[in-house]
Amino acid sequence: MDKILVHGGRRLRGNVKISGSKNSALPILAATLLTKEPCTISRVPDLSDIHYMLTILSELGCEVERASGTVQIRAEKITTQAPYDIVRKMRASVCILGPLLGREHEATVSLPGGCVIGDRPIDLHLRGFESLGAAVKVSGGNVKVLAPKLTGATISLRSTFGSTVLGTGNVMMAAVLADGTTVIDGAAEEPEVVDLANFLIAMGAKIEGAGTRTITIEGVKELHGAEHEVIPDRIEAGTFLVAGAISGDEVTLHRVNPEHLQAVISPLREAGFHIESNGSKVSIAPGTKRRPLKLDTIPYPGFPTDMQAQMCALLANTDGISVVSEHVFPNRFMHVAELKRMGANIDLQGATAVITGVTQLSGAPVMASDLRASAALVLAGLQADGITEVNRVYHIDRGYESIDEKLNELGAEIERVKA
Ligand code: UD1
Repeated sequence: MDKILVHGGRRLRGNVKISGSKNSALPILAATLLTKEPCTISRVPDLSDIHYMLTILSELGCEVERASGTVQIRAEKITTQAPYDIVRKMRASVCILGPLLGREHEATVSLPGGCVIGDRPIDLHLRGFESLGAAVKVSGGNVKVLAPKLTGATISLRSTFGSTVLGTGNVMMAAVLADGTTVIDGAAEEPEVVDLANFLIAMGAKIEGAGTRTITIEGVKELHGAEHEVIPDRIEAGTFLVAGAISGDEVTLHRVNPEHLQAVISPLREAGFHIESNGSKVSIAPGTKRRPLKLDTIPYPGFPTDMQAQMCALLANTDGISVVSEHVFPNRFMHVAELKRMGANIDLQGATAVITGVTQLSGAPVMASDLRASAALVLAGLQADGITEVNRVYHIDRGYESIDEKLNELGAEIERVKA
């Protein structure tokens, strides 16, 4: 397995181009299953999760062509059973259920694998499909959804932890071809849901309210092919902002949507950094003093759970006591034990990390456990003394396009050691 060696203490300076959003691209690629006509999706990041999704689409019968960041897909003749071997590698595979159900009225996938961030049920997705008239059967590790007919309905996607992002997308994709009107109440408001809705609208779907708590979908008979550019990845952008905060003179992010980054920009400002945005650029520069923070992860437009680990890495090395509470995935703290191996002082109390900043982290061999945790370990390595060896980097390749190369262009010294 590849590993990454981060030589700590280098200053970062310069410009970095942010890639298209992984979490937008995955359901958008799945949505191409809704039409027999060709679709063209641009700004698709080159990531292993995207590769898995394209393989699943090919296995389902789609013609897939990829040229750098642009993917052309034609789902003329498709089957409805996704292959276990690929599906198990990525939890987001579950988002093929909605479009297959919408178009073919049936779908079978293996129950999802993916990130090790605690129990990740799909009960809300399934409840949504049932409301539309589908029967759901779970057996032998597979989930099968079947509906002779899909009928619009009012569906609540609220749970104890907020709404569900992929669940909202999944139900939306099934409902676009249902008979009548569907109202999703308690819908996720994330920009990725809006991006998916915009693609579906370009395909001929009738959707209103994406980006708010209530989404209304009026079913249509069929959808047609469309072209779409994926939005910038706000989590990759946030990760580079934290990299700039940790060891930057001045780092400028290009091709971002600053509006999507407000929940990360605000706490970074509160922590003492200077951040300016101009059009599709955002720059971060150090202030006179770093300050500790109190952070709570909450669904969009709140502070994103996908940035929690990276912020912990920053706060581990920030004087004072910071308190970080996780309200979306309460078990998402696998990075804490690894940061502690690097000298961080973190006391985990349930879903809250109490971080007492230390003056210097030290490089150590550490293990990446999930995508964002592995990014946090690379960030910790940037500010550590000596070399940090991050093992199991396949996690980071699931969600960051060439993170080592992009950081090196900014002045970091990161080596990738091939297994
Ligand atoms: C998406 C993102 C992930 C991000 C998460 C929350 C993708 C590919 N992944 O994941 O990076 O961390 O949103 O912003 O877009 N839940 C249920 N029942 C369900 C579904 C979810 O109880 O049927 C719970 C989850 O356990 C979690 C919360 O709802 O506590 C939010 O999960 P959800 O929004 O569904 O995450 P994903 O869409 O899988």
